[in-house]
Amino acid sequence: MSDPEWEQMLASGMLAGQPVRFLAETDSTNSVALGLAASGVSAGTLVVAERQSHGRGRLGRAWASPPGSGLYFSLILRPALAWADFPRITLAAGLGLCRAVEAIAGCQPGLKWPNDLYLNGRKCGGILTETGPLAGEERPAVVVGVGLNVNTEAAAFPEAVRDRAISLRMATGRQEPRGRLLAAIVAEVTARVRQMEQGEWGAVLAAWRQRDIHAGLEVAWVNSKGQVVRGISLGPDEEGLLHIRDSRGMVHAVLSGDVGLAER
Ligand code: BTN
Repeated sequence: MSDPEWEQMLASGMLAGQPVRFLAETDSTNSVALGLAASGVSAGTLVVAERQSHGRGRLGRAWASPPGSGLYFSLILRPALAWADFPRITLAAGLGLCRAVEAIAGCQPGLKWPNDLYLNGRKCGGILTETGPLAGEERPAVVVGVGLNVNTEAAAFPEAVRDRAISLRMATGRQEPRGRLLAAIVAEVTARVRQMEQGEWGAVLAAWRQRDIHAGLEVAWVNSKGQVVRGISLGPDEEGLLHIRDSRGMVHAVLSGDVGLAER
């Protein structure tokens, strides 16, 4: 399948006017991007890899990165936002990822708090947001790392996640163009973060909530004491914390950890 945007990016080192560091193989594009951010590269710089040996996800998990079929990249941003706003960037980036996939692949993925993209009840993408050095930086860098299973075959996923993972191609039945997707995701993520900078976080949050796959459903969350809290997911609040109402009516505000559908 021809993928002109991908070919053009490889030939020019640019994608939609932004500089790209393309790596045939690296440990983690987020690690490379954090190093580049510390050395002062400009906002908008993109690190893209064909293969990652140690792709990282949230909560210390690994991100499987088989070559030739997925998107593994990190976008360096220097947003004009207060430090306290940074946790919300993951939600804004997730919304951008979802909208770009809707536009290019023509399917309707959903979002799982805080950072996952889901299709047909399985995970097809994830976001790992990390920050560069804060001291002495007028505009600290934020690295938005995105992994998306684009044309990945089921057999290429590690066995441990095979029954929970999906690619766009597995869902749509079509080969999807990685270059066009990449350009659309970068444009969307940048636009959603810009919306936050312009004081339009409320609109970003409302659009996120429309795509929330757990809204109104019974979920289970393992808290920091290892206790399982079950309740109805009320979705993220203004701060981006997930609210869960338990059977006694108590509302828990979740900052981190894993939340999944409660088993019956
Ligand atoms: C998650 O599901 O918890 C987030 C997964 C994020 C994976 C991407 S792949 C590109 C970038 N580099 C990494 O090491 N991780 C992110």
